[in-house]
Amino acid sequence: MGCEMTTDQIFTDGVTVENHKQASHEYSERARRHLWLQMSRMGAYDESHEIPIIVRGEGTRVYDANGKEYFDGISGLFTNALGHGRPEMAEAATKAWGEMAFFPIWTYAHPNAIALAEKLASLAPGDLNRVFFTTGGAEANESAWKLARQYHKLRGDSDRYKVISRDIAYHGTTMGALTITSLEGYREPFQPLVPGAVKVPAVNFYRATEHADDFEAFGLWSAHHIEEAILREGPETVAAVFLEPVQNAGGCFTPPPGYWQAVREICDKYGVILVSDEVICAFGRLGTWFGGQKYDYVPDIITAAKGITAGYAPLGAMIVSDRLAEPFQDGDTSFPHGFTWAGHPMSTAVALASIGILEREHVLENVQANEGYFRESLNSLRDLPIVGDVRGTGYFWGVELVKNQETRETFGDKEAEHLLRGFISPEMFKRGLICRSDDRGDPVVQLAPPLISTREDIDFMVGILRDVFTDAAGRRF
Ligand SMILES: Cc1ncc(COP(=O)(O)O)c(C=O)c1O
Repeated sequence: MGCEMTTDQIFTDGVTVENHKQASHEYSERARRHLWLQMSRMGAYDESHEIPIIVRGEGTRVYDANGKEYFDGISGLFTNALGHGRPEMAEAATKAWGEMAFFPIWTYAHPNAIALAEKLASLAPGDLNRVFFTTGGAEANESAWKLARQYHKLRGDSDRYKVISRDIAYHGTTMGALTITSLEGYREPFQPLVPGAVKVPAVNFYRATEHADDFEAFGLWSAHHIEEAILREGPETVAAVFLEPVQNAGGCFTPPPGYWQAVREICDKYGVILVSDEVICAFGRLGTWFGGQKYDYVPDIITAAKGITAGYAPLGAMIVSDRLAEPFQDGDTSFPHGFTWAGHPMSTAVALASIGILEREHVLENVQANEGYFRESLNSLRDLPIVGDVRGTGYFWGVELVKNQETRETFGDKEAEHLLRGFISPEMFKRGLICRSDDRGDPVVQLAPPLISTREDIDFMVGILRDVFTDAAGRRF
C-alpha cells in the first residue's frame, strides 16, 4: 500500500484542517491573502487545504477555530513552558504597562531590566554576570559572534573572526546567525553569507562512524574535531565556537560524558570563546536552569530566548562572563550594537514572573522527576520496526525513524517527506497531538511538552506516537 498523497498535496508541516467550518475557512482565506507564514510553502494552501488556525490555549492544550483540542507537545516551538492562561503573567504585564509604555535600554536603564539581569546572573553558572538583552534567539547569537569579534580586537587579537559550529545545527536566520547555522536548505538562497563559517560533525552517536560502541570515546573524538578545525584554520583566526547543550536540529543529540569538558579545555588552550546556545535548552527544558548545570561546564557566553518568558512575551538574552565584559568597562569603549525593543519593560517583567513560577511551583523538579519515565515510555516504542533511536533528556526528546531497524537504513529525501509531512504530522494532528516531525537531518519526531506536563500527558503523547508509528510501519513511502 503506497501513501496516497502526492508531493503537491504536502503541506509545510503536513497539517491542514479537515473539518471545514465557516470560521476556520474564513480565517484561512484571510491568512492566505495577507499573512505571510514563517518558513512555509504558502503555495501549498488553497481553498480546500486550510491553514490550521489556533485561537486559544488553556494549560497544556490549545484549540483551533473549529473548537478542536490539541495537546501542545512542542510547547509552541519550545516556548510555552508553563502552559496558557496564567493570571500572574497577565498581572505582571499589566503592572509593567501601567508604569510606562516603553523606554529603551540604550544609555538608560529601567528597574525591570535591572532586576531580570540580576536574577539571570544569579542563576547562570560561573562568572556569567553580565546580561545583554535582545528580542529573540537569532539576535542573541548574532550579538554573541559580534561580541566575540570585538572582544578579540580590543585585546589586540584582530584577526579572530571565524566561527565554528556543528553540522545540521540551527542557530537562527539573520545573516550572522544563519552563517552559524549549518542547514544548507536555509543557507543556500542567501549565499554568500558572512565569511568565516567553519563546520564540525554533529554529535550523532546513533550514526557514529568511529567509536560506535563507546559513547565517551566518541565524545572525545567529536571534541577533537573542534581542535582539528581550530588548528587547520589557524587559532589566531578563530573567534568562537557555538554549541547547544543538546542539539535540537537532527533530533536531540545529547553530549557524551566528558565532551563539554574537552571542548572547554580546547577553547581555553587556543583562546577561543565558547558560546552555549541555550535558546531551547535553558529555563528547565533539560531539568536545570542552564546546560552548564546539567553537564558541568561553564561557557563564556550563554544565549537564551524562547522559554525565558514561557512564551508570554518576546525576549532574548546574551549572558556574558565578567572576563569577556572586562575590556568593555574601560574608558570610552562600547559595544556598538543593540535593538530598540531589547529588554522591553513588559517582557522583562513577564520573564521575572515566569522564573518566579518555575521556582515556586518546583517546575524544574517536575521535569527531573519525570525524565526517567519519559525515557522509558519512549523506549517502549522500540518494538515498532520503524523506530531506530530514542534520544534526549529532560522534557526534550527525539525519536529517529528508519526503514530498517537492524541496518539503520534511513529514508531517502522524498520518502522522508512523504513519511513525515504526508503521513505522520497530519495523523498526529488529526489525533490531537501537535509535535514536530523534522527531516532536516535523518527523519525524527520530537517531543518537547510544557514543563508542567504530567505522566498522564506523557502517556497521551506516547500513545498517539505508538498508533501513528504502527500505521506508518505498515506503509510504503
Ligand atoms: C538553538 C536555537 N538557536 C537560535 C534560534 C533562533 O531563535 P529565534 O527564532 O528566536 O531567532 C533557535 C530557534 O529555534 C534555536 O532553536
